[in-house]
Amino acid sequence: MTDTIESSLKAEHVLRPSKEFAAQANMNDPDIYQKAEDDPEGFWEGLADNIDWYHKWDKVLEWEPPHSQWFVGAKVNASYNCLDRHIRKNGDKVAIHWEGEMGNSESYTYKQLLESTCQFANGLKEIGVKKGDVVTIYLPMIPEAVIAMLACARIGAPHNVVFAGFSSDALAQRVGDAKSRYVITCDGYYHRGKLLDQKEKADKGLDKIEGVEKLVVVDHVANIVPMKDDRDIWWHDLIRGADTECEPEVMDSEDILFLMYTSGTTGKPKGVVHSTGGYLVGTYVTSNWIFDLKENDIYWCTADVGWITGHSYIVYGPLLNGATVVLYEGAPNYPDKDRFWDIIEMYGVTIFYTAPTAVRMFMKWGAKYPQMHDLSSLRLLGSVGEPINPKAWSWYYEQIGGSRCPIVDTWWQTETGMVMITSLPGLTPMKPGSATRPFPGIQASVLDKQGNRVPPGRGGYLAIENPWPSMIRTVYGDEQRFLDTYWSEWGTDIYLAGDGARVDEDGYFWILGRIDDVIKVAGHRLGTMEIESSLVSHPAVAEAAVDGKADEIKGEVIFAYVILSADVPESEELKQELIAHVAEEIGHIARPAGLIIAADLPKTRSGKIMRRVLKAITNGTDVGDVTTLQNPEIVEELKRKVKEASMH
Ligand code: WT7
Repeated sequence: MTDTIESSLKAEHVLRPSKEFAAQANMNDPDIYQKAEDDPEGFWEGLADNIDWYHKWDKVLEWEPPHSQWFVGAKVNASYNCLDRHIRKNGDKVAIHWEGEMGNSESYTYKQLLESTCQFANGLKEIGVKKGDVVTIYLPMIPEAVIAMLACARIGAPHNVVFAGFSSDALAQRVGDAKSRYVITCDGYYHRGKLLDQKEKADKGLDKIEGVEKLVVVDHVANIVPMKDDRDIWWHDLIRGADTECEPEVMDSEDILFLMYTSGTTGKPKGVVHSTGGYLVGTYVTSNWIFDLKENDIYWCTADVGWITGHSYIVYGPLLNGATVVLYEGAPNYPDKDRFWDIIEMYGVTIFYTAPTAVRMFMKWGAKYPQMHDLSSLRLLGSVGEPINPKAWSWYYEQIGGSRCPIVDTWWQTETGMVMITSLPGLTPMKPGSATRPFPGIQASVLDKQGNRVPPGRGGYLAIENPWPSMIRTVYGDEQRFLDTYWSEWGTDIYLAGDGARVDEDGYFWILGRIDDVIKVAGHRLGTMEIESSLVSHPAVAEAAVDGKADEIKGEVIFAYVILSADVPESEELKQELIAHVAEEIGHIARPAGLIIAADLPKTRSGKIMRRVLKAITNGTDVGDVTTLQNPEIVEELKRKVKEASMH
């Protein structure tokens, strides 16, 4: 079946899916790419039949670049599609196996998940939430996070999930920008055995802004927390006696399903807007074909619900498929470094989806940890978030997948909503390190500045040349930023992804990493500007520059350069204070791994920081031509300081 593709490959190192896997795969029609290319709208329209609609569309696509409307005029509800429609056949099937960090666990069948969702949806109505109101969810990896999302979807209230590890400032920023009057959090949670006080963080954040009317608090760890009289309400009080039925709101296909804030090139994160109908079609089919979801699979994606991966491939995609999902609260090394493999063995996980940074960490910890467990239930592995280097790929393939599981390396973004470049596990021969080919119906390409396709082997800008159902609709409250960020490089009909890439002679895509001021630290997306503005908000700092430094495990780590305000003396304490300040202002994930106090930064004669030179200094590579610098003498001094800092 794969022979036609296989025989045309010129490639060095190719691994083809086994005949057995290919034979049973949900998608194994080699003509699918051509069919989709010949008639993309017909392709998506056919797939839309996998979703239950109250009313079908008048038109598949309305494309007024860069604005798309999908399944125009159709009516649908996301929560109905994730829950109700599975009940008749599969009510007692487990939807979620939740595993707490402390070893406690809970399972929800589809019926139970539906009832809990309805109860909470009724609770939300009780406190005044109406269709169209943005509800912010600031919860860790607990079942209530999923229930809250589905409850919002049920009543037509867009959700705005904020990663639980973000700081109070980051929460305030996102609640404020979304003008969200309702927030959901919890009393606390355990991370690496340590109790984190989530409620305190939420309180601190909400103190900084106005307009939040209700804060719903999940009692997750019996932590004693102060409750604000007329604002705060316990989750369990809200659902006590609530009806276990709640009629799903009939939503327009283009109504907003959720907002998801993500870092960009300015100091302010942007609220990516996703709508309903197209998102459901896109996440349904990508989950079905890429993860090959079957009736008996136990599927585990280790992402956090606070990121897009959690939205599309823990919640919506898998539940639309009626799958059984594992949700793990905690860290991979608690209580020991074999925790993930223990979970796989315990639940009989068949599909495992994680990030390259995690794989590299496992690799460093050693094969003895996975070897302590029976991983023979696994049949498919996935990777997401950053490029996976061939060495980590091979380790993952051999040590975790026992050389029998295909790996899907899935390239996509918060903005794309669904996977865009990936192999189809029963169809596409794999090349370690390549995300392989665009998903059927997606026209990806690598362009130069002028918009010409670059020849095979050469690097360029990754672009998407046609609309797709789950694409970003706008930036919440900032249409101009939407236009400027994604649609201004070559015109309003070609999407600029922000990644560098190259295509090889076989048409395989190799993602080279971000080409803008976004860095990926352990798969987390951070804007250098955000961190710089956090640093300069400290009174001791006059100027700051933040850069990504290559790291063996995390891909990149944050490296900060700081120029102190006049008369502020340099000290080790101050450095630590500045590092802590960033972690406090943004969250632990933004904590600089290194910080250098500098007399100056490499600048052009007009006073602009020369990023290219800084990048070379940070990474100890050749700085190249520095004759256009205003202050070339600073280069050697900074290089020396970076070297010193890296020795600690
Ligand atoms: C950026 C998007 C949506 C997944 C989670 C991250 C990088 C993502 C891959 C991959 C190489 C990848 C890109 C992209 N990225 N997947 N398989 N290979 N790079 O979502 O936070 O919006 O980040 O992650 O740089 O632009 P995100």
